[in-house]
Amino acid sequence: MEILAVAFSLTLIALTFIFITRRRADDGGAKLPPGTFGWPIIGETIEFLYGTPEKFVGDRMKKYSPEIFKTKILGEKTAVICGPNGHKFLFSNEQKYFTAFRPHPMQHLFRSYQTTAAPPPPADLTKTIRQPGFLKPEALARYLSKMDSIAQQQLQAHWAGKNVARVYPLAKTVTLTLACQFFLGINNPGRIARLVKYFDDVTLGMHSIMVNLPGTVFYRANKAAAEIRKELLSVIQEKKRAMADGGPMQDILAHLIVVTDPSGKSMGEAEIADKIMGLLTAGYSTVATTITFLMKYVGLNSEIYEKVRAEQMGIAASKKPGELLEWEDMAKMKYSWNVICETMRLVPPLQGTFREVLTEFNYAGYTIPKGWKVYWTVSTTNTNPKYFKDPEKFNPSRYDEGEAPPPYTYVPFGGGPRMCPGKEYARLAILAFVHNVVKKYKWEVLDPNEKVEGDMMPEPQKGLPIRLFHH
Ligand code: HEM
Repeated sequence: MEILAVAFSLTLIALTFIFITRRRADDGGAKLPPGTFGWPIIGETIEFLYGTPEKFVGDRMKKYSPEIFKTKILGEKTAVICGPNGHKFLFSNEQKYFTAFRPHPMQHLFRSYQTTAAPPPPADLTKTIRQPGFLKPEALARYLSKMDSIAQQQLQAHWAGKNVARVYPLAKTVTLTLACQFFLGINNPGRIARLVKYFDDVTLGMHSIMVNLPGTVFYRANKAAAEIRKELLSVIQEKKRAMADGGPMQDILAHLIVVTDPSGKSMGEAEIADKIMGLLTAGYSTVATTITFLMKYVGLNSEIYEKVRAEQMGIAASKKPGELLEWEDMAKMKYSWNVICETMRLVPPLQGTFREVLTEFNYAGYTIPKGWKVYWTVSTTNTNPKYFKDPEKFNPSRYDEGEAPPPYTYVPFGGGPRMCPGKEYARLAILAFVHNVVKKYKWEVLDPNEKVEGDMMPEPQKGLPIRLFHH
């Protein structure tokens, strides 16, 4: 009997040992974050792309852990790092534990010139615009008057004399006109109107399932990317001819044409086109979305409108007729900037981004293996009542001095070395629009309950129709 008991115990121990070692072998010996990889191949991509981002992360933070959970999205095993501690960890460990990663649909859309299998690091694009200082305050200050006059011209061209208008189409045209002028040095309304449609399709395709069949979002995005490239290649050739004739060389495109790598080699036209397309895309829907939802929230709240208008009219009153905005004026737009911040909190123009794990690391008691992807998103903090009192309320005063949200809870532009390089450009572009729109108009939102479509890139279903009252 005793022998039997010993044999039974030994078998139990052996089985337990086998079970544990099997599990550890499956996990590479690591304690992985809680969560599920979902369905074979597609993982949880459908829930991620077609549910609301808040719900996707909120449900899993509740179910698994408020700090980190694992999932499989867009073909990648991914750890979602959550909350202010997660943001801090991520923004402070760039290049130590992780580097930038673009999901495969994005890599595909923005890398036409790439013929080898391994794409170069996405840091490329950022280096291009961070280094020469195009987006630094000194450069932007020179461009500010242009932003002001473009906002004026666009409002005049599209809304003058109208009683009813749609905000979203104008916001997109203004944004792309600014970007084309700034990045490419062109201002050709016909060309810009053609590009708007294509950029919409590319932006949608960046976060889509990579099925390249007629009728799919990805297919449309590919076609649109090809059209944008065609247009950009002709812009590049025109620019080269103009530069040969001694034309101006102040925009990013001119810089990309002349810049060489350490071996003295300059960039090919296809590569330049891809880089410019990446930049235009990064700065397009984000700014247009913010302008649009700002118009909605301000239009629905006359008290906030009056405060913004008073601030902007104070600035306008200090200027001579026809004098354009200057750098010092922007520092006086504190309340308007708070309104922009509150808009981005409630409708984040960009949900979050991915990183690739360079070397295995531990976070919150879990191990994240090398090669996995990490995702961070503003939706783990931006509507949490722990950090934002009455989170559903549009309240620009929550950013007043002394009231600022706790660190790492409000990060619409990300943080650390990879923080959005277009932040200052976006701030000035949106403020210049706000300045001009409140100077000329008051407006009423015609359908306050208009449906918002697309969670990765939110847009009002009917383009936000408004009734305009001219001042
Ligand atoms: C309201 C407007 C904008 C918002 C909310 C926004 C937000 C963001 C966020 C959250 C990131 C990711 C940061 C990270 O991965 O940690 C990012 C990256 C980036 N943004 Fe923006 N952005 C805006 C406008 C712009 C504009 C106007 C430009 C171009 C002029 C731009 C260019 C870029 C680029 C190139 C990156 C990639 C940076 C990198 O990977 O190192 N963004 N942006």
